[in-house]
Amino acid sequence: MALKGTLIWICSLAVLSFSAAQDETLPQICSSQTQLFERLSADLKVAAQCNKSLSSALDAQQSSELLLSMRSLTDCLHKHQLKECQGAKPNECPEAEVPTNGGLACVTVDDKRYCKPVCNHGYDFGFIRRSRLFDECSKQTKYKWDTQYVGGNKLAVCSEASDQIAGAKSAYFPRDQDCLVTKSSSQLQNSTIEGFITELRNQGILGEPQYACLVCG
Ligand SMILES: *[C@@H]1O[C@H](CO)[C@@H](O)[C@H](O)[C@H]1NC(C)=O
Ligand SMILES: *[C@@H]1O[C@H](CO)[C@@H](O)[C@H](O)[C@H]1NC(C)=O
Repeated sequence: MALKGTLIWICSLAVLSFSAAQDETLPQICSSQTQLFERLSADLKVAAQCNKSLSSALDAQQSSELLLSMRSLTDCLHKHQLKECQGAKPNECPEAEVPTNGGLACVTVDDKRYCKPVCNHGYDFGFIRRSRLFDECSKQTKYKWDTQYVGGNKLAVCSEASDQIAGAKSAYFPRDQDCLVTKSSSQLQNSTIEGFITELRNQGILGEPQYACLVCG
């Protein structure tokens, strides 16, 4: 009885110190973010290139463990990048929804917010919008999005399609350059946003562009 009590006591101590150690080491591990990012990014690039040999070297449990960690990290990073257009002027405008399988380029000119939905290759819009390059939210629209989807913040849906016919040519990312590929290169992101600004200028919207951003759904 006494021995059992001691064992339980030791076990709970071990559990306690284990959770305390975790709480202490987690901030420590997470504080060197630059190093962590560089290491992780390099390892992941190699792992993605070695995909075949890696996946045959892992057993089912190891693969699942890896998938699970990647899923939680992917979800977290994705949610974080979705917020990158927040805080733009005019403040009264609700955040436009970012289409899955595509992205949203946004810019504010003269206190009017313009957002342009762009579908990835292999996806098309649900409604014809060839002459509608972007949607607007401003005082004139009563701070609502003038969308084809009445009364909401959804500007467009990108659905799987073999032909891309509903939108203007510039409303699609090129075949090998989906939204995330574009966003991972400052040059590609810049040219996408600059292209959008040129389209605004062509329609007589000439002011200084502010709060430019690109988010991927
Ligand atoms: C595995 O990696 C190769 C080379 O990087 C790539 O071409 C191929 O598409 C990858 N396979 C899968 C299933 O992703
Ligand atoms: C794109 O790059 C040019 C030249 O570096 C810069 O002047 C411009 O502000 C950039 N545009 C955006 C939207 O970041």
